[in-house]
Amino acid sequence: MTFIFNKLRFSSVRWFVLPIVCSAAVGLALACESDPHATLAITPTPDAGSDAPVVGPSQLDLPDQPILGLPRDLVDLFDEGDNLFELPLRDGDGLGPLYTQRSCASCHTEGARGPGFVQKMVVVEADGLTPAADQSKLPFGFTVHPLVAGGGKTPVLPPPNDPTVKVTTRVGPPVMARGYMEAVADAEILRVEAEQRARTDGIHGVANWVIYGSETTADARFHGLKKGDRVIGRFGLKARVPSLDDFTADALQGDMGITSPLRPAEIANPDGLTDDAKPGVDVPMSSVHLRAMYLRLLAIPPRPKPDAAAVALFAKSKCDVCHTPSLQARADYPIAAIAGKPAPLYTDMLLHDMGDALADSLPTTDGSATWRQWRTAPLVGLRFNRTFMHDGRSKSVREAIRAHDGRGSEAAESVRIYDALSPADQKLVDDFVAAL
Ligand code: HEC
Ligand code: HEC
Repeated sequence: MTFIFNKLRFSSVRWFVLPIVCSAAVGLALACESDPHATLAITPTPDAGSDAPVVGPSQLDLPDQPILGLPRDLVDLFDEGDNLFELPLRDGDGLGPLYTQRSCASCHTEGARGPGFVQKMVVVEADGLTPAADQSKLPFGFTVHPLVAGGGKTPVLPPPNDPTVKVTTRVGPPVMARGYMEAVADAEILRVEAEQRARTDGIHGVANWVIYGSETTADARFHGLKKGDRVIGRFGLKARVPSLDDFTADALQGDMGITSPLRPAEIANPDGLTDDAKPGVDVPMSSVHLRAMYLRLLAIPPRPKPDAAAVALFAKSKCDVCHTPSLQARADYPIAAIAGKPAPLYTDMLLHDMGDALADSLPTTDGSATWRQWRTAPLVGLRFNRTFMHDGRSKSVREAIRAHDGRGSEAAESVRIYDALSPADQKLVDDFVAAL
């Protein structure tokens, strides 16, 4: 019952029938009542800005709606991917030997932020910041894997009471609008990089060049990448992964201990296991693709018409240099609803030096990103965030802006300009950003 209801709830086309289904079918009535989303009102049509994607007659104000007006076959793929994204996996599915959470949705609930997270650990020098040359205390890498399943016995945890080991958190980021991020052409990212290189104020974003780490597949619908190719990374907080199939396979393997044709090996573990309770590769390619299609088809939640004064202040404060209001999706991206359209993501997809305060001190584990660099966070669906910044340290947009101001941060001048605004103008910026 819940399964059927979920499918109804996530479909942009079929929500029209919801009230009828709920009241007419006695069996379903219970499920409808017990689901919090059944009582959500349909929001009135927002007046989208010129750059915003086309918004239909009305849309549920939820973070995980499909792009409006998709053809039926794509809505079906979205629903199937959504169900897999939510599905908790068990030992018999190939969970483990190491894992962190059982489903994608535990860390990206409804496509929004968290509550699940990943922890990283690294041996640092006495300054508490610089990564130490000797990382041999961490033989199983920099990622904490707190749980075991499928025969695994020994989790990977930070060494206890060791002040030389710095532990940092990465909260599962929102995954809305990531199809638009996949669709931006490399040339567009490099164009913005070149523009920033010419600046004289120290804001110099750089593309993260990474080595494609998944196995090569015959399926070249979204990209024709081959293992070992040097490409621009886009996904992950430091843009270390170039495509959504690749990221999905990486998350299945790294966060859930689920192997797939793209990432067929279990991650190295203290028990030396090379397999788990399910022999061989745990899930087929279709399982990776469907989850990736859900990510690609997630809409940009409708935005109110931007206040012209707020937009001007966002630009005056130089927020828009890194949080580029819009990029262009390439014309040959395989999803027509995205191809050739503006991608109003409020990110340049580039890495910036954000200074000491935000630094995670990790040696270059994320492609070419250094321990002080982060990819400009896309500002999409921020009203669904309860916390901000990679580790959730900020509880409001204003706190997030202040957190940009660490020693050596490329954004320090931007924060200074924002701080010099009148309280009323600061509030205009805060409200504008919070509604994106
Ligand atoms: C244990 C928590 C956790 C689980 C489970 C998890 N993720 Fe994530 N996810 C994260 C974190 C943390 C990041 C940021 C990772 C990084 O910076 O490398 C992330 C990043 C992502 C991104 C990139 C978003 C961006 O802004 O570039 C995508 C896409 C994604 N996850 C999809 C998935 C999918 C699909 C699954 C299930 C197969 C999944 N995740 C399971 C925590 C999780
Ligand atoms: C030099 C580039 C740069 C400038 C300038 C900049 N930002 Fe950011 N912004 C980033 C990066 C990089 C992150 C991600 C940092 C992290 O997660 O630790 C970020 C994160 C954010 C977040 C948190 C988003 C989330 O999902 O948690 C908000 C909100 C934000 N910026 C707003 C602003 C505003 C408003 C301004 C102008 C006052 C601004 N930024 C200026 C680069 C920049």
